[in-house]
Amino acid sequence: MAIAFILIFLTAITADEKPLLTPYQLNIPKGFPQPKIPENNLLTQERVDLGRMLFYDPVLSVDSTVSCASCHHQALAFADNQPISPGVAGRLAMRNAPTLSNVVYNPTLLFDGYLPTLEMQVLVPIQEHAEMAYNIVLAGNRLKENADYVKRSYEAYGRKPDPFVITRALSAFERTMISGNSKFDQQVYQNKKVMTKSELRGMDLFQNQLHCTNCHSGFNFTNYTTVNNGLYEVYQDSGRARATHLPEDRAVFKVPTLRNIALTAPYMHDGSMATLEEVILHYESGGEGHINKSEFIQPFRLSKRERKDLIRFLECLTDETFINNPDFSNPFTP
Ligand code: HEC
Ligand code: HEC
Repeated sequence: MAIAFILIFLTAITADEKPLLTPYQLNIPKGFPQPKIPENNLLTQERVDLGRMLFYDPVLSVDSTVSCASCHHQALAFADNQPISPGVAGRLAMRNAPTLSNVVYNPTLLFDGYLPTLEMQVLVPIQEHAEMAYNIVLAGNRLKENADYVKRSYEAYGRKPDPFVITRALSAFERTMISGNSKFDQQVYQNKKVMTKSELRGMDLFQNQLHCTNCHSGFNFTNYTTVNNGLYEVYQDSGRARATHLPEDRAVFKVPTLRNIALTAPYMHDGSMATLEEVILHYESGGEGHINKSEFIQPFRLSKRERKDLIRFLECLTDETFINNPDFSNPFTP
């Protein structure tokens, strides 16, 4: 009898600690490559679900007021509409919250173009004084007091909530944020005739005449390099040099994706440009003479109509399916 009891007890424990591995199938849009998912964090439904809860839960900030979603809003393609988004106690850091569209493809994260994995990136906002101002070990301890999180954490990773689980679950959720059903995708990859003449003229300007695709290239509109696009002669933000301390990296920033760009104003690393028109006028001017400015940033002149065409094209990168996808919405609001 005692042995039977012990056996039941043991099986109960192992059954509990074995993660459930319900496969999660990423929906890869036409024209998109298969993304790399790290071996040590393969996608499962349990991991994605847990990451989604953590993304929307202010529990990861010191005073439980700020969540990832406070600065990365689904309706804005997981960017924000403020130049600088306030963190805990309204504190402001230095940079504009970027879209998370297609982050699964990014070889590096942040404007520095330096941090290699989403898992590592999670540590930044949690500990950053002007963002969540907390400590990921303490955040794990806080989650251990919540029976639902403990259960889900076992189901996802076979262990209690801790930094291992928090970093991996959030990354698993972020890897599902794929945006590939914009008007541009429908026209170019799905062979539907949905773009207007003006939008098509704008695409021709973007690709063939102004060579925006020297940097904003491919299905995700970035070549993932870090360059200086001539915003200032003197920058407040040292750019990639913040990570590398190299003079050639001063004031160079990762080329951002332009997916959902019409939703993610204001623009640039510091949110200093309010509209797409302002951005285009900047490129037309050829930019300020910074020593690291890319040779591809050269002055040109557009007519009023061409400028409008180019903006119409950029608006074609908005993906309504993405911003309305119920799989990405706040799981705590019905
Ligand atoms: C207070 C606002 C704020 C909060 C809260 C916040 N972020 Fe961010 N996020 C930003 C800003 C600003 C950047 C750009 C920082 C930089 O480049 O140095 C950023 C960048 C990112 C990036 C890099 C995207 C890319 O393409 O390079 C990811 C991924 C990300 N955040 C995920 C998260 C996650 C996950 C959380 C919650 C754990 C979170 N963020 C919380 C403001 C915020
Ligand atoms: C030499 C590379 C390069 C070229 C060419 C280039 N860009 Fe950029 N672009 C960048 C970089 C780098 C940034 C981010 C700079 C920053 O944040 O300080 C950027 C930012 C942007 C942004 C704002 C993105 C955001 O999320 O804030 C838009 C819009 C944009 N570019 C459109 C264009 C258009 C349109 C063209 C062609 C006229 C173009 N770019 C040509 C490198 C380039």
